[in-house]
Amino acid sequence: MHRHFLDLFDISREEALGLLDLADRLKRDDSEGHRPQLLPGRILGLIFEKPSLRTRVSFEAAMARLGGNALFLQGKDVGLGVRESVSDFARVISQYVDAIAIRTFSHETIVELARHATIPIINALSDAAHPCQAMADLMTIREERGRLDGLKLAFVGDGNNVAMSLAVASALAGLEFVLACPPGYEFPDDFRGRFAAAFPGVALRVEHNPRSAATDADVIYTDVWASMGQEDEVEARGKVFAPYQVDRDLLNLGSPGVIFLHCLPAHRGEEVTAEVLDHPRSRIIPQAANRLHFQKALLFWLLSEDNVEVNGRPISSHASVR
Ligand code: CP
Ligand code: NVA
Repeated sequence: MHRHFLDLFDISREEALGLLDLADRLKRDDSEGHRPQLLPGRILGLIFEKPSLRTRVSFEAAMARLGGNALFLQGKDVGLGVRESVSDFARVISQYVDAIAIRTFSHETIVELARHATIPIINALSDAAHPCQAMADLMTIREERGRLDGLKLAFVGDGNNVAMSLAVASALAGLEFVLACPPGYEFPDDFRGRFAAAFPGVALRVEHNPRSAATDADVIYTDVWASMGQEDEVEARGKVFAPYQVDRDLLNLGSPGVIFLHCLPAHRGEEVTAEVLDHPRSRIIPQAANRLHFQKALLFWLLSEDNVEVNGRPISSHASVR
């Protein structure tokens, strides 16, 4: 019996918090010089139909640090659904590697891959979700603010893949999430339906005023206005989103300990000023670092059958997150 990690609707609150604890633990061990070979000989296939720095390199590095290997395949070489059907691909590649992390355009491709694969499938970004990013971001927020429950996260920008995963991550971890976006760029209806079904009683807050969203926020977050695959909308979106730029004035509306986050890559001077990206309250670089640590925890959770002892202490969250 294997699990997938397609979006954050797939995991429970207990599993999410267990994964965060495991990621913290692995990060601490790593900083103390312990890099246990938790996945010796295991192989992760990486299929990317879009560019990547953080996700690709952190997955490759995670597998290397865990004693396994990663195999990178460009989407155009694989030709998912073009060169061959997704189901044929899924059944064949399941014989060669132990798990797949895939970055693709249509979330439905990932769902179909998971339906036919006999190994765990990880979403490395689709049009609907970026779950590894949002979980690593929870790790960063907890490190910086000491807790998650009750904090306010304001996402100022497009109701996109990153925003959707952050909304679900926030609901799982007890943060108060608010999206501030231009009219017409709210969350899609199917996402709102899934959210309402998964979190009855949790409001999915969306507003159009970035200043009221940012007021008293503990975390102010933004992302590009046009995601990969929306290149032909760059100009139109640039005009519509201009009032939503995160600048020093917006950051100053946050709570006294506010931090600024951005999944990166950032367009300096567009969705955020260079001043805010490089501001003392910005945590974009440790945020990117946590992609590696969270993904080590995720890979261990998805792939390991063993309870292990590292640095004289058992990895106890394994049992609780599985
Ligand atoms: N944040 C993120 O996913 O970055 P990459 O596109 O470089 O992987
Ligand atoms: N929303 C962005 C995130 C990049 C990490 C995109 O999909 O291009």
